[in-house]
Amino acid sequence: MESFLIKGGVPLHGEVTVSGSKNAALPIMAAALLTGEPCVIRRVPDLSDTRFMAQILKSLGAEARFEGGTLTIRARNIRGYADYELVRKMRGSICIAGPLLGRLRRARVSLPGGCVIGARPINLHLKGFAALGARIEIEGGYIDAAAKKLTGSTMFLGGRAGSTVLGTANVMMAAALAEGVTIIESAACEPEVVDLAKFLTAMGAKISGAGSPTLTVTGVEKLHGAEHDVIPDRIETATFAIAAAATGGEVTIRQARAEHLRAVIDKLTEAGVSVRPRGGGLAVRRDRNLRAADVTTLPYAGFPTDVQAQMMSLLALAPGISIITERIFESRFMHVSELARLGADIEIEGPSAIVKGGRPLSGAPVMASDLRASAALVIAGLAAKGATQVNRIYHLDRGYEKMDAKLRKLGARIQRVQEK
Ligand code: EPU
Repeated sequence: MESFLIKGGVPLHGEVTVSGSKNAALPIMAAALLTGEPCVIRRVPDLSDTRFMAQILKSLGAEARFEGGTLTIRARNIRGYADYELVRKMRGSICIAGPLLGRLRRARVSLPGGCVIGARPINLHLKGFAALGARIEIEGGYIDAAAKKLTGSTMFLGGRAGSTVLGTANVMMAAALAEGVTIIESAACEPEVVDLAKFLTAMGAKISGAGSPTLTVTGVEKLHGAEHDVIPDRIETATFAIAAAATGGEVTIRQARAEHLRAVIDKLTEAGVSVRPRGGGLAVRRDRNLRAADVTTLPYAGFPTDVQAQMMSLLALAPGISIITERIFESRFMHVSELARLGADIEIEGPSAIVKGGRPLSGAPVMASDLRASAALVIAGLAAKGATQVNRIYHLDRGYEKMDAKLRKLGARIQRVQEK
């Protein structure tokens, strides 16, 4: 297994370009299953998760070719069965269920199971499929969704923590080939859902309201091939912005879209970080001394759960008490005990982490537990004095394209080494 060896304490300076969004690319890749014609998807980040999704599509019978960030997918003849060995490795792969149901009227997909950040139920996906007229059975760890005919209907897809991103994506994809009009209330408003709607529209789907809580899909008989450019990754953007702030540097982030990051920019500003538009991107600089700030994760346009861990690393450096409340995934605090190994003083109280910030961090070996927790540990390691070894960075490679190379370009002393 590989690790990052970081010699911290160097302020990051320079320019970095963000890659295409992982969480936009994954459902868009799945959407290519809705047609037998070729789809060309550009700016697909080269990550283990996107490669894995391509492998899943191939296992279903599609052709998928990845060349310099452009993925060409052709799903001429496909089957509607995805087994546990594939699905369990990446929970995001559940978004193949909607397109399979839409195209084949049958999807037999393994239940993904929980993971380290929380339970990851899919009851809302199934509620949506059932509302379209699918008969759902769960047997032997598989969901079997089948329908002679899919019929549009009005449904409410809000759950315990609000809307569901992949649930909305799944139902929108199935509804694109249903008969009649589907209205999804409490639909997810994330930019990744909007990007998927844009791709589906390019394929011939009729969708309105994407980006709002009421999403309307008017079913069509057939979809055709299309081309698409995936949006820049807002979570990667936030991660580099926080890394720049945590190290006291100044970084210009190219391709960054401020309109996707209002809540993050607002909290960074409150914490004493300057974020300004520059040359089609964003310039991030730590202006003043860092200040404590309270953060609560929420569905979009609230503060993203996928940036909670990274923000915690920054607030651990800010003198004063910051309260970080996680409202999306109940156990997404695995990074807390690892940050403590670097000297951070953080206590968990129910859904909140109380960060007593301002203590100097010093390097130590730490263990990455999930994708965003890994990014938080890298940020803390970059800001800490001395050497930090972040182990198990395969988590990080799932969602960040060439993070070590990008950080080195900004002056960071970071090397990929074999874990000892
Ligand atoms: N939920 C339900 N029932 C459902 C579906 C979700 O109760 O049927 C709950 C979840 O347990 C959670 C909340 O609803 O409490 C939101 O989950 P959501 O369904 O929105 O998450 P997701 O679609 O499975 C995507 C991203 C995650 C990101 C979340 C929230 C992809 C591939 N994954 O997951 O990304 O954290 O939305 O924004 O798009 C990551 O990139 O590190 C990552 C985990």
